[in-house]
Amino acid sequence: KYLGDPDYIKAPIDRLISTKNATKLRDHISRGEATTSETLGEGPVNDNGKSNTTHFSIIDKEGNRVAATLSLNIIFGSGFLAQGTGVLLNDEMDDFAIKPGTPNVYGIVGSEKNIIEPGKRPLSNMTPTFLVSEDRVGILGTPGGVRIPTMVLLGILDFAAGNPADSWVSLARYHHQFLPDIVQFEPEAFTADEQRKLQEMHHDLNPLERRYGNMQAILWDKKANQVTAASQPGKLGQSAVD
Ligand code: DON
Repeated sequence: KYLGDPDYIKAPIDRLISTKNATKLRDHISRGEATTSETLGEGPVNDNGKSNTTHFSIIDKEGNRVAATLSLNIIFGSGFLAQGTGVLLNDEMDDFAIKPGTPNVYGIVGSEKNIIEPGKRPLSNMTPTFLVSEDRVGILGTPGGVRIPTMVLLGILDFAAGNPADSWVSLARYHHQFLPDIVQFEPEAFTADEQRKLQEMHHDLNPLERRYGNMQAILWDKKANQVTAASQPGKLGQSAVD
């Protein structure tokens, strides 16, 4: 509802991030029955991520760190090269809503909050992330279009559970994007029993045939004074500690 450039959109951030709001939302979650998106009001319609986004996670021996997600958006971006540079130009204008009700390349139907205006920034799913606790620092991010926020959230929860970086990047993910009102899940994300229970709660399940994203992660365990790096298995990324 509030997704768009904060310079143009007034979102009640204080209320959205308040414990009171979180408690209210949590209290509405039924443990026995799926809550339909329809009953929660309007929202965007999203679809799958395509390719041509890259994430880097970096840390040096002084603890300086970088989480950078870069994107041309869809494959080869706009298809135009800046003359004499070899640099491909992106087509991130598609991250705007062309007009209300018209989906972009990912099937996202934005509201007028994300309509193109001079100087305005388009909505983005990219979520380069630092995680800082008393004794651990995590760096992570991934490509994956509209699935980026759920992939990163599952990684964050795994960090919070105390698990190592290779676990965050290897997790089988599930994803719900409000509309369509379905739960997508990667192979092995749910056991047959979990799938049955979710269906009993009237969740509409959509099994995916392959794994999404390409998560790159670093964990600095300050207590053990140890840095580990991990890249999502089966993808093109690489990790190294010197
Ligand atoms: O910022 C966004 O939401 C999109 N341009 C990201 C595109 C993306 O992740 C494509 N790669 N998988």
